[in-house]
Amino acid sequence: MILPVTVYGDTLLRKKAVEIDKDYKDLNILIENMYETMYNADGIGLAAPQVGLSIRMFIVDGTGMEEEEPEMKDFKKVFINPEINETKGEKWEMEEGCLSLPGIRENVSRQDEVSITYYDEHWNKITETYKGFAGRVVQHEYDHLEGKLFIDYISPLRRKLLKGRLTAITKGKSKAHYRVNVPG
Ligand code: NI
Repeated sequence: MILPVTVYGDTLLRKKAVEIDKDYKDLNILIENMYETMYNADGIGLAAPQVGLSIRMFIVDGTGMEEEEPEMKDFKKVFINPEINETKGEKWEMEEGCLSLPGIRENVSRQDEVSITYYDEHWNKITETYKGFAGRVVQHEYDHLEGKLFIDYISPLRRKLLKGRLTAITKGKSKAHYRVNVPG
């Protein structure tokens, strides 16, 4: 089932999400629905707060991009209760977008490498390091669990220039090609 996407202006996107346990009801269905929602919106990552649930989980699938981005091979994963251990390496800039900020793309500077410990959908505990584009996606999605958005990293001037478009999103006037949940 495709779920409506929570967009900018909804306070849920600013909350620190909470961990879940193995008894979390219908987790497999939620994961399935999140994949369906993400594919429908042409995303490569989606965090639970973006579908209205303030829980610590996100999914990624960058496997369609592995020709240009070799680190995307096998990059289809579910991250449950993730914790970032360390970010390191050179900072580099890349244009990012977010399904919760339809139509907005901005350059964001992030460190290259991230070490993360998480549980997969079978509750195996895993620690991995991601670099490059994969590392960026993991950091972006993890931020959603901390109540952060990529526009938090841009300059006050850029932010000011975006103000009208951000207000439009809040009012349900964005032109997303997928269903969104308008705040309030
Ligand atoms: Ni996002």
